[in-house]
Amino acid sequence: MWKIRRLPHPLLQCTLFSIVALGLQNSWAEDNLKNNSGYSGSVSCIECHDHFYELWSTSHHGLAMQPYTRDFSKKELTPQQDAIQIGDQSYSAKIGPDEGWVAESGPEGEKKYPIEHVMGGKNVYYFLTTLERGRLQTLPLAYDVNKKKWYDTAASGVRHFPGVLDDEPLHWTDRAYTFNTSCYNCHVSQLATNYDFKSDSYHTVWAEPGINCETCHGPAGEHVKACKEAPAGEPPQDLRLKTVTVSRGYTTEQVNTACAPCHAKMRPLTNAMEPGISFSITTIWWRWNMRTSIRMGGIWGRTTPTLLG
Ligand code: HEC
Ligand code: HEC
Ligand code: HEC
Ligand code: HEC
Repeated sequence: MWKIRRLPHPLLQCTLFSIVALGLQNSWAEDNLKNNSGYSGSVSCIECHDHFYELWSTSHHGLAMQPYTRDFSKKELTPQQDAIQIGDQSYSAKIGPDEGWVAESGPEGEKKYPIEHVMGGKNVYYFLTTLERGRLQTLPLAYDVNKKKWYDTAASGVRHFPGVLDDEPLHWTDRAYTFNTSCYNCHVSQLATNYDFKSDSYHTVWAEPGINCETCHGPAGEHVKACKEAPAGEPPQDLRLKTVTVSRGYTTEQVNTACAPCHAKMRPLTNAMEPGISFSITTIWWRWNMRTSIRMGGIWGRTTPTLLG
C-alpha cells in the first residue's frame, strides 16, 4: 500500500497521485469496455425482475445521471429569478419550452451552453454541457432542489494550497468539474474515457447513465442466458451470476464493499469492483477525505456537494 505520509511534499504527492490515477483510470476504462461483452444492460432484467427494475429506475442510483429534456425541466425545475454574476460574466438558465441552455454574457460577448445531462437530485442538480475536445463540463449554474433556487455551482469548490496561494473558488471550466476526468464511473455505468493524450481530447462512452444493475451485481449476460434456457418455474441450479447477496453466502462486509468505490470516494485499481473482493486491497487513496486533504495541503476541488461543510 502507499504510505502517504512518507511522500516528499504535498504538491508533489498530489501530482504523483494525479498522474498515477489518471493513467490507470484510462487503461481501466478501456479494458473495462473491451471486457464488457458479459454485460447485458438493465432493460434485459425487466422480463424477470420487473419489480426490482421499477424500484431501481426511479431511485437515485437509476437517476444518478439522466438526459436533460423539456419534461424534466417542467417537472423538476423553476425559472431563475435573477442572473448570477461570476467574475465578469453573468449567467442565466434558460429552461423555457423552446430553450434549454445556460446563457453567458460578459465583456467577450454572449454565449449559449446547451444543457445536455442532469446529475443528482437528492438535494441539488448539476448540469453538463459539451465543451471543446469532447470535454463534458459541469455548468456554472446548479439548482437547489430544497430551496428551488439556482446558484453558482463552483463558488464552494476551493483549491487549497495553504501558505502558497490564497484559497479561491475554482473556475467552472476547471478540470475538477470535467465529467470525463472527475465524475467517471460513479454516475454512469461501464464508462471508458477514451482520452487521447496527444490531442488532449476525449471520446467518452458509457453503457448506461446512472448506476446500472450490473455495476453492483456484475456482468449478467450469462445469467440471462441460463435463466432463459431453463424450463419455466425451474430456475437453473447455477444462476451464472457473481452477485453480492447475503442469500448466496457473501458476508455483510462483502456486500458493503460493493458500495465502497463510490460512497467511500476512492478509486478501485481493478477494472471494476468484482462482487466479493476486498475493497482495501484494490484501491488507491487518491480521493481521500476532505480533512486529510487539508492536513496534507492537497489539491481538492470539492466536486461532490455532499462533501461540503
Ligand atoms: C429470464 C429470466 C431472468 C432474467 C432476464 C434475469 N434474471 Fe436474474 N434471476 C432469475 C431467476 C430465475 C433467479 C433466481 C430466483 C430468484 O431469486 O428470483 C434470478 C436471481 C437473480 C439475482 C439474485 C441472486 C441471488 O443471489 O439470490 C440477481 C441479483 C439477479 N437475478 C440479477 C439479474 C440482473 C442484474 C439481470 C439483468 C441484467 C437479470 N437478473 C435478468 C431470472 C432472470
Ligand atoms: C458506481 C457507484 C455507486 C455504487 C457502487 C453504489 N452507489 Fe449508492 N449512490 C451513488 C450515487 C452517484 C448516488 C447519488 C445519485 C444522485 O443523487 O444522483 C448514490 C445514492 C445512494 C443512496 C441515496 C442517498 C439517499 O440518502 O437517498 C443510497 C441510500 C445509496 N446510494 C446506497 C448505496 C448502497 C447500499 C450501495 C451498495 C450496495 C451503493 N449505494 C453502491 C453511487 C453508487
Ligand atoms: C467517487 C465517486 C463519485 C465521484 C467521482 C463523483 N460523485 Fe457525485 N456522488 C457520489 C455519491 C456516492 C453521491 C451520493 C451521496 C449521498 O447522497 O450520500 C453523489 C452525489 C452527487 C450529486 C447529488 C448531491 C445531492 O445531495 O443532491 C451531484 C449533483 C453529484 N454527485 C455530482 C457530481 C459531479 C458533477 C461529479 C464530477 C465533477 C461527481 N459527482 C463525482 C459519488 C461520486
Ligand atoms: C447499488 C447497487 C445495486 C444496484 C444498482 C442493484 N442492486 Fe440488486 N441488490 C443489491 C444488493 C446489495 C442486494 C442484496 C442485499 C442482501 O442480500 O442483503 C441486491 C439484491 C438483488 C436481488 C435478490 C433479492 C433477494 O431477495 O435475494 C435481485 C433479484 C436484484 N438485486 C436484482 C437487481 C436488478 C434487476 C437491478 C437493476 C434493475 C438491481 N438489482 C440493481 C445491490 C444493487
